[in-house]
Amino acid sequence: MIRIAAIAGSYRTGSYNRTLLAIGVAAAERLGAEVDLIDLRSLGLPVYDGDLEADPGPPAGAVELKRRLGAAQGILIASPEYNGSIPGGLKNAIDWASRPPDVPFGGAVAAIMGASPGGLGSVRGLAHLRQCLTAMDTWVIPSQVTIPAAHKAFAADGSLVDSRAHAQVVALVERLVDAAGRLR
Ligand SMILES: Cc1cc2nc3c(=O)[nH]c(=O)nc-3n(C[C@H](O)[C@H](O)[C@H](O)COP(=O)(O)O)c2cc1C
Repeated sequence: MIRIAAIAGSYRTGSYNRTLLAIGVAAAERLGAEVDLIDLRSLGLPVYDGDLEADPGPPAGAVELKRRLGAAQGILIASPEYNGSIPGGLKNAIDWASRPPDVPFGGAVAAIMGASPGGLGSVRGLAHLRQCLTAMDTWVIPSQVTIPAAHKAFAADGSLVDSRAHAQVVALVERLVDAAGRLR
């Protein structure tokens, strides 16, 4: 069975990106994938610090994150952009998980999405996230989903108001699950 690790780049309760991720998760499950929803806040990661890493060693949350990412063939991320880039919490989690041994990113496949109340829907942040994942030898699906005006994009039940946007999420997840089955 294909296993997908799903991560929201926002810690916030009521996050648009958590809502967007949930749509992707449901689509993956409908395709028969097993989804591991990783809540970054619950990992309690400190800011990456090479001294901490050396002694007493990587924090339990970093070890857990690596284990869970390593068990997945595909990674689905929905993230806002903060100041035109990757939110610090998400970047910090990636930095911890990128440390050897057993780096979980090489040969993995990822799909990225973003929602923001602004007009760009996190497109600048996704460009940096794509660059970061690619630097770690992760295959990032060329297409992506951006949801601008996120404050108006979701219905009360968490669905996307625009059926075309919903179809884009489903199509992206289909590509992710398909590629994950073939790449790792
Ligand atoms: C520190 C910070 C920086 C932000 N920078 C941007 C930005 O560059 N572009 C943008 O569209 N929105 C930006 N925002 C607004 C976020 O897109 C907005 O808070 C969004 O709701 C966050 O996603 P979430 O709903 O998943 O938590 C920023 C928000 C914060 C807290």
